[in-house]
Amino acid sequence: MSSRTPQPEIPQHAPAIVYRQFGGPQVLELTNVPITQPGQGEVLIRHTAISVNFSDVNARRGGFYIGQNAPEVTIPGNEAVGIVVAAGDGITGWAAGDRVAYVGMGGAFFANSGAYATYRTMPASRLISIPYGLSDQDVAAVLMKGMTASAAINRFYRPGPGETVLIHGAAGGVGLILVQWAKHCGARVFGTVGSAEKAAIVRRHGCEEPILYREVHFVDRVRQLCPQGVDVVYDGVGRDTFMASLDCVRPFGRLINYGNVSGPLPSVNLMLLSAKGSLSIGRVGVTDHIKLPEDYQRVAAELFSLCLSGAIRPCVQAILPLAEAATAHQMLESHQKAGSIILGP
Ligand SMILES: NC(=O)c1ccc[n+]([C@@H]2O[C@H](COP(=O)([O-])OP(=O)(O)OC[C@H]3O[C@@H](n4cnc5c(N)ncnc54)[C@H](OP(=O)(O)O)[C@@H]3O)[C@@H](O)[C@H]2O)c1
Repeated sequence: MSSRTPQPEIPQHAPAIVYRQFGGPQVLELTNVPITQPGQGEVLIRHTAISVNFSDVNARRGGFYIGQNAPEVTIPGNEAVGIVVAAGDGITGWAAGDRVAYVGMGGAFFANSGAYATYRTMPASRLISIPYGLSDQDVAAVLMKGMTASAAINRFYRPGPGETVLIHGAAGGVGLILVQWAKHCGARVFGTVGSAEKAAIVRRHGCEEPILYREVHFVDRVRQLCPQGVDVVYDGVGRDTFMASLDCVRPFGRLINYGNVSGPLPSVNLMLLSAKGSLSIGRVGVTDHIKLPEDYQRVAAELFSLCLSGAIRPCVQAILPLAEAATAHQMLESHQKAGSIILGP
């Protein structure tokens, strides 16, 4: 178990971000919420680093709740790092002062959220212990995003030495981890990016050929680099990249989608896959990858080990105060950031 530090007294109320209706970043407001004491099997955590994920944006927009009303008050976010400050009845193995992280509450990642808060009461079964050598910010930057990359690589397609990989949104939170993981597997990595600054960042993380998709068509560039097509495409962008990506893949190659940051995915006629060269398509759901408790812990452990070895270097672009959650969302939605954004307490 990790080291324990003295904890400040627990207040009755503490700041959190909430929204009361779906909408733009302006619906996020800072308020004080009551702190619930942990019950049977629960712990109370004081957050030290709160992860910002694109799914927080989708949930805030109402994108995951089509046809439903917004709950009266929602605290967004479902991934954070913190310190255990109190344990309820029946807790063994965790105690006040332990440094911990968590991703989701066990169901869909966007459900039962509540991480954009100073304190959170939650089931102890979701806790992951953090090893020495990784900062709270490092872990908050890579945990869920790295678990998603892990699902793409461990469940769908692991590129071998010398194989070729195209990664869309290569400078994004998940993209930058995929770049490093694919490189670590020995692959040649190409990646699409929206600016020269992002090209420099992905290159520093192992991308051999950043493709400035606003200046050149990525299919043309991939076919110049790799006339037969790449072995695999990892796509988190969705609507704007998905169909054209089929033209980047070699016969019998794979297109693995994990996100749709540019908009909903198109429907695909399966016959098109044979016409394009007997291709396969996969869609990652990180929730399935970490559903079993043993998988949840094992996936985190592999990720931490890759980080500690230097194979994956967490990239924290900005650490903002919790009160500036709306700015963090604006940065995500306007292509302003590379890597991850963290909210501080
Ligand atoms: N399936 C799952 O289980 C799972 C798990 C985690 C994440 N996701 C999804 O994966 C996607 C990527 O997540 P992420 O954390 O890597 O996001 P992110 O950090 O915001 O990165 C997305 C990247 O996509 C590029 N992009 C292209 N078109 C864009 C657009 N219209 N708006 C915003 N960015 C655009 C941006 O780079 P450029 O400026 O270079 O274009 C940006 O760096 C999201 O849709 C997220 O919800 C899914």
